Amino acid sequence: MFSEKDFIFNTTTFEINKGSFQWSAPSNIALVKYWGKKEHQIPANPSISFTLNQCKTITKLSFERKNTSTALSETKKNFSFDLLFEGKPKVDFKPKIQKFFERIEVYCPYLKHYHFIIDTENTFPHSSGIASSASGMAALAMNIMSLEKALNPEMTKEYFTQKASFLARLGSGSACRSIKGNVVVWGKHTGINGSSDLFGIEFAEKIHQNFKNYQDTILLVDKGEKQVSSTVGHDLMHNHPFAKQRFEQAHTNLSSIKKVLENGNIEEFIKIVESEALTLHAMMMTSMPYFILMKPNTLEIINRIWKFRAETKTPVCFTLDAGANVHVLYPENDREHILQFIKDELIGFCQNANYICDTIGNGAIQIL
Ligand code: DP6
Repeated sequence: MFSEKDFIFNTTTFEINKGSFQWSAPSNIALVKYWGKKEHQIPANPSISFTLNQCKTITKLSFERKNTSTALSETKKNFSFDLLFEGKPKVDFKPKIQKFFERIEVYCPYLKHYHFIIDTENTFPHSSGIASSASGMAALAMNIMSLEKALNPEMTKEYFTQKASFLARLGSGSACRSIKGNVVVWGKHTGINGSSDLFGIEFAEKIHQNFKNYQDTILLVDKGEKQVSSTVGHDLMHNHPFAKQRFEQAHTNLSSIKKVLENGNIEEFIKIVESEALTLHAMMMTSMPYFILMKPNTLEIINRIWKFRAETKTPVCFTLDAGANVHVLYPENDREHILQFIKDELIGFCQNANYICDTIGNGAIQIL
């Protein structure tokens, strides 16, 4: 396993002048949630997620080496990059990338020697309320690692993926779980070998057939800008009255869900996943200042799911991100029946009847 020091790039000759790479990286949905962090993007508790398949960011990174004198005179200045979103310059995204570059500079000192064009797009509708930071940072981290691999061709595949996840984490915590599939653990947990606070790892145990190709239908309840960002929410876990119990609970839930993913007990799965979602939002409601990200329609949907599950004994459940949208999770075998229920009863609670059908996926893919 690699430590933080292993991720510092220390070759000083940069032989690659110009080129481009392109990667796609998916979003992910946490089953046990990351909420609360320490300095340097270290999570306060371990988390586990399903990697998604359809909700992706596709990013092309073109790079050209600056001449040495320009590079030196610019050393103390900003990184040099242009940012395009769906082919058009997008200045609003630049500060986030700038901050990301600053955080990873010590591990990727070659960045200041190049000018970059970052050309990015999402497969899901813009401002759908789906956070693109996980898929976006993961796709960018993979591109940066492709450049690093070109500079250091001896790099192993394992180092490539672990450092990509390590870098993505510094962009956005949950992004480190978007490099690999199908189930990823991030954060040190005594029951999971190789787990680390520094990067996500693939869940190594054999996943029960019941969870193969698990479905996630994302109901877009509210597409507006969130009132409180995740970063602010994480911060409010410092001095939170229930923080200690919450972090302990996440460790326990991770031990339980590990067993469930192996033994296929969907009933237990539902209990853990729904409790995690409601606990996440309970943490928001009990922060100081407190806030609520669920909307009335979020609760309507939850109640309909509970009623349908009780009446039909269908193993459908929900989880929530830091927002009002609802992720409806269910086994592939029950797909038709549940999609019908979603269309008949839940779509009416979505903004403009919008929803996205997704499934568990395999992680980032190189396109160029
Ligand atoms: C509720 O990864 O978006 O989705 O590290 O500040 O970028 P930053 O936060 P972010 O937080 C995600 C929180 C969550 C739960 C989860 O994905 O585990």
